[in-house]
Amino acid sequence: RIGNIDSRGALVVLEGLDRCGKTSQCSRLLSYLEGLGHSVELWRFPDRTTSVGQMISAYLSNQSHLDDHTIHLLFSANRWEKRSMMEAKLKAGTTLIVDRYSYSGVAFSSAKGIDIEWCKAPEIGLLAPDSVLYLDIPPEKAAERGGYGGERYEHLEFQRKVAQCYQMLRDSSWKIIDACQSIEDVEKQLKEIVLDQVTACKKGKPFSLLWS
Ligand code: TYD
Repeated sequence: RIGNIDSRGALVVLEGLDRCGKTSQCSRLLSYLEGLGHSVELWRFPDRTTSVGQMISAYLSNQSHLDDHTIHLLFSANRWEKRSMMEAKLKAGTTLIVDRYSYSGVAFSSAKGIDIEWCKAPEIGLLAPDSVLYLDIPPEKAAERGGYGGERYEHLEFQRKVAQCYQMLRDSSWKIIDACQSIEDVEKQLKEIVLDQVTACKKGKPFSLLWS
């Protein structure tokens, strides 16, 4: 607590299709903020290190088969098991750059045909991001980049459906970044947005909860 404002870290989420460039942008943002002297950590969902995360990982690599609703709830549980740690870090002033969050959860499961409201329900009460950065790329372009790792969701037909579901989830607060630009141009745009959020949260921007 600085004076009478609750200074805190920012919760910044990057979303997008597989191969949209999220992961490299996340690490660039991390070094950028570290370089400015901010306390910052890189997180990702699924967090494959927990026991729930290991079940998810086995499912994604086709080593196990689960009902669509069951895997949806596991992805959600994987966020819930990190929730208190997330809040503690933010309150301690650490900014979190998060590679995928609840929006991936809803987009990928509703792309299978599960009702979108059903998909959102278990996410209610998780911390809402201060900023959702959507790296926008046509599914065909992402597929051309190659490097689909052969995991369950990494094929063009499914990614097309996921893109449509992300469209339905979008609201006016999302920052849509054209991910077909050069890595440097994307990076430049992201840095500006994120620095603004970090500043706002330092000044005591209040928390809000999903689904808002
Ligand atoms: P991720 O580990 O980010 O993929 P990568 O191996 O490309 O780094 O995510 C794995 C997959 O899980 C990805 O296709 C998106 C999907 N996913 C869900 O279906 N639900 C979720 O809640 C999350 C976080 C990811």
